[in-house]
Amino acid sequence: MKIAILGLGAVGRGLLEVIDEKQLDLVVTGVADSKSAIIDRDGIRIAEVLEAKQRWGSLGDKTLGAMEVVTRAEYDVLVEVTPTNAQTAEPALSYMKSAILLGKHVVTSNKGPIARDFRKLHELAVAHNVQIHYEATVAGAIPIMHTLRHGLAGNEILALYGVLNGTCNYILTRMAAEGLTYDQALLEAREMGYAEADPTYDVKGIDAAIKLVILANTIWKKQVTLDDVDITGIDLLTTDALRLAEDQDCTIRLIAEMVPKKDLLRVSPRIIEKTHPLVVDGSLNAITLETDLAGEVTLIGKGAGSRETASAILGDLLAIRDSYARGH
Ligand SMILES: NC(=O)c1ccc[n+]([C@@H]2O[C@H](COP(=O)([O-])OP(=O)(O)OC[C@H]3O[C@@H](n4cnc5c(N)ncnc54)[C@H](OP(=O)(O)O)[C@@H]3O)[C@@H](O)[C@H]2O)c1
Repeated sequence: MKIAILGLGAVGRGLLEVIDEKQLDLVVTGVADSKSAIIDRDGIRIAEVLEAKQRWGSLGDKTLGAMEVVTRAEYDVLVEVTPTNAQTAEPALSYMKSAILLGKHVVTSNKGPIARDFRKLHELAVAHNVQIHYEATVAGAIPIMHTLRHGLAGNEILALYGVLNGTCNYILTRMAAEGLTYDQALLEAREMGYAEADPTYDVKGIDAAIKLVILANTIWKKQVTLDDVDITGIDLLTTDALRLAEDQDCTIRLIAEMVPKKDLLRVSPRIIEKTHPLVVDGSLNAITLETDLAGEVTLIGKGAGSRETASAILGDLLAIRDSYARGH
């Protein structure tokens, strides 16, 4: 199967590395970053491209861009791993639509287009007989979409509760463990590389809410938006609140929750028993699903990381390859 990759940052790099390491019969025929691109119908030399990117900061041909890769490269699946724009979803949205119109499958880790335009993209993909997969948009390495689509297919999802933001989880873990103030824990999270220079999206609960929207649209099959989510962040939490929770053998976690029958979509700090499976430490993510047949199922894993996110993308790529091998 031939693939083209847009974006060669942490995720794109991790994906190229694992494709190079494993014999998976995936041939990369195009790669683009923000300023340059390479197209080679026989397959790029991955090690050379990674080295050139590391050494020079670009891929070589500056006369080519991402849209040229989409329209001119020879590929079956477009892997879209450029930065997220939560407002407009661009330019990723245009790249994805163009690929679908050309009859190509799409795999992405980019939350913007999926949270904002999932239904339209899904309908476009169906109309052009291609697949769109987005496992890596929610909870990094945790195979939540595959679990919902395959493992728990046939189950009714009665409720979903998730720790979907590693930055918030790290801050809350450190506040509880060391009695740090919110500001001290945030500073530490920045120093450890868990928080962005501008952590607003994370600490105000917006990133978790965007992921909840993606999950809700996958499970609920209707188009909910960020405006439908009731959001409270962790930025006003005090050390005293955590200490009070501690006195009752509880702690506080930022929980994204969805209860379809109650039309409930909420992200908020919740007091939760320390022994609950959702109480994971550091930057881990966790999701508990309440189902009618399987009962309660909890998945825990790394919510971010170069190779961890590449794992989710690889799962999507191989699912597409396998469905075609079966003649679908
Ligand atoms: N990192 C994670 O652990 C993780 C986990 C889950 C999901 N995600 C999502 O995955 C996506 C990629 O994340 P990342 O961490 O790899 O980001 P990143 O390190 O910032 O890399 C982004 C890459 O996209 C390229 N790029 C920017 N604008 C572009 C454009 N218009 N056309 C083509 N390429 C463009 C950049 O080019 P230059 O190299 O030239 O700057 C860079 O190579 C994001 O949407 C992120 O939210 C990331």
